Amino acid sequence: MAIDAPMLARIRRQFPAAARDATGRHRAFLDNGAGTLVCRAAAEREARARIDWSANTGNVFPESKGAEATILAGREAVSDFLNADGPHAILSGESATSLLFSLSYALGRTFKGDENVVLTAYEHFANVSPWEELARIGKIHEVRYAKFDTETFLLDVDDLASHVDRKTKVVAVAAASNFLGTRSPLPELARIAHEVGALLVVDAVHHACHGPTDVRALGVDALVFSGYKLFSRHGSFLYLRPDLVEELWPYKVDASPKHGPEKWEWGTRDQAMFAAVSGAIDYLASLGGTARTSAKSGAQRRARVRMAMESIERYELGLNRLILKGDGTTPALPDVPGLTLFGPRTIPNGLGRDPTFTFKLAGFEDPELSRVLYDTYGLAVGGEDYFSRVPRLYGMETAMRATFVHYNTRADALVLLRALHELAAKRG
Ligand SMILES: Cc1ncc(COP(=O)(O)O)c(C=O)c1O
Repeated sequence: MAIDAPMLARIRRQFPAAARDATGRHRAFLDNGAGTLVCRAAAEREARARIDWSANTGNVFPESKGAEATILAGREAVSDFLNADGPHAILSGESATSLLFSLSYALGRTFKGDENVVLTAYEHFANVSPWEELARIGKIHEVRYAKFDTETFLLDVDDLASHVDRKTKVVAVAAASNFLGTRSPLPELARIAHEVGALLVVDAVHHACHGPTDVRALGVDALVFSGYKLFSRHGSFLYLRPDLVEELWPYKVDASPKHGPEKWEWGTRDQAMFAAVSGAIDYLASLGGTARTSAKSGAQRRARVRMAMESIERYELGLNRLILKGDGTTPALPDVPGLTLFGPRTIPNGLGRDPTFTFKLAGFEDPELSRVLYDTYGLAVGGEDYFSRVPRLYGMETAMRATFVHYNTRADALVLLRALHELAAKRG
């Protein structure tokens, strides 16, 4: 299945706000890195769950049973999306940040204090502070950072490997940097981590909406993503290897279950969060056409989601190329005079790149440029630090960021290119 014009029109009907803002103004929404728009299917499922299944779980009446079924269906949908081992490997939480803290504390209990954790230099702080906290309270000796190449913006895998030793317990990496768009070579990193018996923990919050994620094929031990960056609402999900779900002991209240995902979950669940994520994943599966498998419905959905995410990745590759190379008439982003792009200028073979473009434009302050881009050109583009370590490495407080997803059009990309060229020319 290719995302062609009729398919794109079908996709955009799921996201009315991709074309018009709440005031009815025509615009292009490129602030997807901060949170994607919510698809109709997710919002409608959430509303139905709120109304039909609003009781708490654990009781005999239909609303309570419905709430339980909705939660289980949500875990199944997430498991299908990630090609995980099943709903028993899917934990939920308020945010990716809270889930990574929960995981780091549970792992920290098993350490002696002389171990280390290896991260990349381009992590979001959600995947930094939980590990730094372990060092602060003496559960590990140190957190080490693998550098990225400042020309190509790709992870220096040799540098990462040089930080990993027999005392490394965890290698924790972003699937893709939310600042640079750089993707991490996860199978290679899994091999490096596993050679010394360390776990590979993946922060897929930024990347999950851009391509297929297969936790078993990648060989990851834990992987987190957030609903609000996958066309759903807030609330996040952690895949954890089933043996670790059982073996580790998270911070929990005494009365809560001692096994399964519920052991890890604080307080009562919001069934509507699970309904919404099922809606988003079923929407994605619906883009995957008809999978040729006679297997039962879960396997069907896995196959369809995979096909959909592959199509999305192919489509976004076209947007990536357009931004980085231009279209022959409109010059590319790196050719805007006075523009500094933080992220790969070419698309690495086999690895790809998330269509996230972070830049500084000489002569403009970021918040002001965000305002001008919206007011004059109808372009929603961020101008902040994105809780990333990267701006600090460059001594910057903020930068501009445009992130494309599959509901964005080539026209959206061209408006951005023309706007930046025009502003650069006016500045002189
Ligand atoms: C790569 C990455 N990790 C983690 C987070 C934090 O996610 P959450 O808000 O669910 O804690 C973000 C949010 O911007 C992100 O981009």
